[in-house]
Amino acid sequence: MNGFEINKIIAAIIFTVLVVFGIDKISDLVFEVKKPTEAAYKVEAPDVKIVSTKSSSSGSVDIKALLAVGTIEHGQKVFKKCTACHVVAKGGKNKIGPVLYGVLGRKSGAISDYKYSKALIAHGKVWSYEEMNLYLLKPQAHIKGTKMAFAGLKKEKDRASVILYMNSQSDNPLPNP
Ligand code: HEC
Repeated sequence: MNGFEINKIIAAIIFTVLVVFGIDKISDLVFEVKKPTEAAYKVEAPDVKIVSTKSSSSGSVDIKALLAVGTIEHGQKVFKKCTACHVVAKGGKNKIGPVLYGVLGRKSGAISDYKYSKALIAHGKVWSYEEMNLYLLKPQAHIKGTKMAFAGLKKEKDRASVILYMNSQSDNPLPNP
């Protein structure tokens, strides 16, 4: 190999490098890529109407819609969360909590041989569907100072079902709303 050939090889390498980089730069200039400002396809949220049985701002609850999601059978299962403290059967005794036979439609704090908290006695309302729903959602929030040590039933289905079940355990069940 003589000096001339080595020069040719070096020149070829330099040329190749220049061409490769050059094309890269030139194509950057020529094909300046415009980034799209909007997504090529849009996902639009479907217009779903949610039938909510949660309290509206006025505090009223669509009790009919709420009870429609529950069943007495499911309520009997949910009531297992209450049996540590309550009996719901006719002729049942008070436990940690008062006997709940016929509780719907009854005035709150009405069992004479049960020692209620002052808060519950002061509450003094009839256990309507609405009242029961609010109490079971969050007992301590609805009746501040109640001694019922129970966090509440978050699921609408659970509340609806247990209310229906308790209403079935009664001499005078509340009429359907
Ligand atoms: C840890 C024990 C405990 C559990 C569990 C419990 N309760 Fe109670 N409950 C009480 C006590 C104690 C009271 C009395 C509250 C007071 O005087 O403030 C009470 C009161 C009540 C009252 C008012 C009764 C009346 O005569 O006015 C209702 C209704 C009630 N509970 C329903 C339920 C239901 C339904 C469940 C299950 C989902 C449940 N409780 C779970 C202890 C409990």
